[in-house]
Amino acid sequence: MRMAERRVIVTGGASGIGEATVRDLVIQGARVIIADLDDERGPGLAEELGEQVTYQRTDVADEDSVTALFDAAEATLGGVDGLFNNAGIGHIGPSAQHPLTDWQRVIDINLTGAFLVAKHAIARMEAAEGGAIVNCASILGNFGQSQTAAYSAAKGGVVNLTRTLALEYARKGIRVNTVSPGYIITPLLDALDQETKDYLAGLHAMGRMGQPEEVARAVTFLLSDEASFITGSQLLVDGGFTAGKS
Ligand SMILES: NC(=O)c1ccc[n+]([C@@H]2O[C@H](COP(=O)([O-])OP(=O)(O)OC[C@H]3O[C@@H](n4cnc5c(N)ncnc54)[C@H](O)[C@@H]3O)[C@@H](O)[C@H]2O)c1
Repeated sequence: MRMAERRVIVTGGASGIGEATVRDLVIQGARVIIADLDDERGPGLAEELGEQVTYQRTDVADEDSVTALFDAAEATLGGVDGLFNNAGIGHIGPSAQHPLTDWQRVIDINLTGAFLVAKHAIARMEAAEGGAIVNCASILGNFGQSQTAAYSAAKGGVVNLTRTLALEYARKGIRVNTVSPGYIITPLLDALDQETKDYLAGLHAMGRMGQPEEVARAVTFLLSDEASFITGSQLLVDGGFTAGKS
């Protein structure tokens, strides 16, 4: 088991890519805290998976809530070795009509939230002299796509935040990497109609969208010691989307 006895926080762990990663980490022996706002799916998943998993209601955009998360991790797990910084929301619409409140919420959760959780994780990992963080960006952190101004700006920020944190803490034994999924079949895509989904699926070289489990396995790898010389990198899990046009 690649993650035996590791203590891992998964933000946004109640659904989609986060849920699949929680399940994969548990199979690999980790103890996991689901940090999410979903008070139905989060506790339900923790109960289903048994004593290796607990749920802590967390808003990643609220520093008091993030502090409480790490206090809970200390109390229930005795510390944190790994973090999957995955919580995120989407927003689609023309930039000129983008309400500031919507822009702010996307930035608060997808970028500032990632920073806040990483900040508190690193403080604990520094004291423990090691750890691993995986930040969830997106293919949209690497190129633009119309109608996704806040989301793409936030995800581009996550890619470069990762590099900066990796440089800052590499010599303290803390690895920081990005996983950037292509389009993955999760509730995040519920806002899209079938025609748009079919179009987007066809943009992947493999001609399909990904499954959350296909991202989860990459995250577990990056969190594990198998990735011991990997930091500051971005692993694209995108079915060839960003490889180019064929
Ligand atoms: N699905 C895709 O196509 C895709 C592609 C690239 C990147 N991503 C990224 O993957 C991550 C997971 O997305 P998903 O597709 O699994 O979506 P999802 O909607 O299935 O899951 C997101 C989870 O985040 C939680 N969450 C939202 N706001 C939160 C907050 N403030 N604090 C804590 N938890 C919060 C939600 O409750 C939910 O459980 C996101 O960062 C998303 O941007 C998704």
